[in-house]
Parts: sequence; C-alpha cells; structure tokens
Amino acid sequence: MALIEISHPHPGVRQLLFNRPDKLNALSTPLMAEFDRALDDAAGPDVRVLVLRGAGGKAFVAGADIAEYQGGKRTQFIAFQKNSRRVFDKLERLPKPVICAIDGFALGGGFEIALCCDIIIVSDQARLGLPEGRLGLCPGGGGTVRLTRAVGKFAASDIMLAGWHMSGRRAHELGIAAEVTAPEALTDAVLQRARASLKIAPLALAEMKRLIREGPETPVEAAKSHEQAALFGLFSTGDGQEGIEAFVEKRDPVFKGE
Ligand code: COA
Repeated sequence: MALIEISHPHPGVRQLLFNRPDKLNALSTPLMAEFDRALDDAAGPDVRVLVLRGAGGKAFVAGADIAEYQGGKRTQFIAFQKNSRRVFDKLERLPKPVICAIDGFALGGGFEIALCCDIIIVSDQARLGLPEGRLGLCPGGGGTVRLTRAVGKFAASDIMLAGWHMSGRRAHELGIAAEVTAPEALTDAVLQRARASLKIAPLALAEMKRLIREGPETPVEAAKSHEQAALFGLFSTGDGQEGIEAFVEKRDPVFKGE
C-alpha cells in the first residue's frame, strides 16, 4: 500500500493523499521519502495544480511519527528534522499552486506542511495546531517562522504557547484558511479553486508565487521592482501575448506555459 497515494481528480490536477490512516497519517521516515519523490514527480509540466489531502477522514497529518522519536536517538532525530525542512522548503517553492485540504487533525508537521501550501481549505471538523510544546519540544519544520509571518506574533503565540488544536473556523477567521466547508463539500471546494487556477497561465502562476513568497522579505521599493521585472518578462512570453489577443478577440486563451 502506497503511503502517498497519487490520483488525478481533474485533468492537470494531481492529488497526493497521505495514506497512513491507522496512525492519523503521521510522517514516518518512509512516508517522508515517498512524499519527497511525489513532489519531484509533481514538478513536471503535466501537473498544473497540486492538491494535498489526508486519508481516513480523521486527519490530514497528525505530525511527525512520535514513535520514531522514542529512545532518544539524537542522530536519527536530527537527520529526520533536517530532511523534513528540506522537503517542506521544496513544497513551498513548487512553482505551481498547491491546495491543502484539511479534514480533521493537521498538527505539528502536518500543519507545517499546510503552511508551505498556497491555499488552505478546511472542513468544520479540522483541528490545526503546533502542539510540540506538549512533548517538551518545539516545531522544527518552519512552523514558528511561517505561522508567525502568516498571522503575526500574537495569534501565533496564542496557538503555540497554549498548544491549542484550533478549529477550522478559527483558522478561517485568522486568514489561514481560505474557506471552511462541511466535510462533504471539501472536495468540491478544492476542485473549484483548482479549476480556477487552471485558467491562469503557468508562468504567471510561477511568478506570482515567487513574488508572494519573496515580497515580505524584500524592502518595498526593491519588491516593486521585482514585480515589474516579472511583469515585463511575462509580457514577452507567448502566453502573455496569447492572453491579451484572446481577450481582444473575445475567446478563451490557450496557454502553453511558454
Ligand atoms: N505519531 C505517531 N503516531 C500517532 C501520531 C503521531 N504524531 N498521532 C496519532 N498517532 C497514532 C496513535 O498513537 C494511535 O495509534 P494506535 O491506534 O496504534 O495506538 C492512532 O494514531 C490514533 O491516534 P489516537 O491518539 O488514538 O487518536 P485520538 O483521536 O485519541 O487523538 C490526537 C488524536 C491527534 C489528538 C492524538 O493522536 C495526538 O495528540 N497525536 C499527536 C499530535 C502531535 O503531538 N503532533 C506533533 C508531533 S511532533
């Protein structure tokens, strides 16, 4: 049984399902290795939008596999954390939209994976948090960094310092989740967004993702210059010209990703 189940719910859309439901899809070393490979496979041009979900209806991912931590094998622990950081960075840098659908627990590394995605959609059964402090630990896959940048110091502190399992509605209130749905409506909500992104030119998506990621780390005037440089580059692409011509000719554009 694959720990990452790959499917195609719509042409151009690839779904990766964390598939270890008996352990709430906890991130074991083998599961991380499969996830890493699946991200490499998803980098190809046939995948326009990536969707991440968890199997079993009870969890997206309930964090790193705590059983692997038992016994205090420090070298192994550090290797796992460094590898997770690398894989999460790879996910964040994927130059195409990544939609994370959360129904149930997204804790620790599970929430850290969600924070590397572009759009998070939750069900009203979702429970999100970084409860590592309850284990005497702290996040290690970028959780304190990405959550604090996403929601600010006080909301991030409220989540982490109490170890809350925040509700899907709270995640929506904080702007982490784009939408909160009933569990049975989650698939439709995800596919609606995926289909919308399929209408955007791939190079434009890649540039906007990069600008959104790098902008907050860049001084304002430099960030505006980077944005214009991206726009000027896109204007000269085939897809840039096609998009403009199609609008004027009142037809749907045909983007080729070039
Ligand atoms: N690592 C390893 N196994 C995990 C796990 C994790 N992060 N999260 C859940 N599991 C396992 C449980 O050990 C249990 O296995 P078992 O049936 O063989 O005993 C199974 O998944 C179901 O979990 P269980 O705890 O029985 O479900 P629950 O509904 O009572 O509680 C949680 C759900 C999510 C609240 C609880 O499992 C939990 O706190 N998990 C750890 C979350 C965490 O701290 N994540 C950060 C890790 S750094």
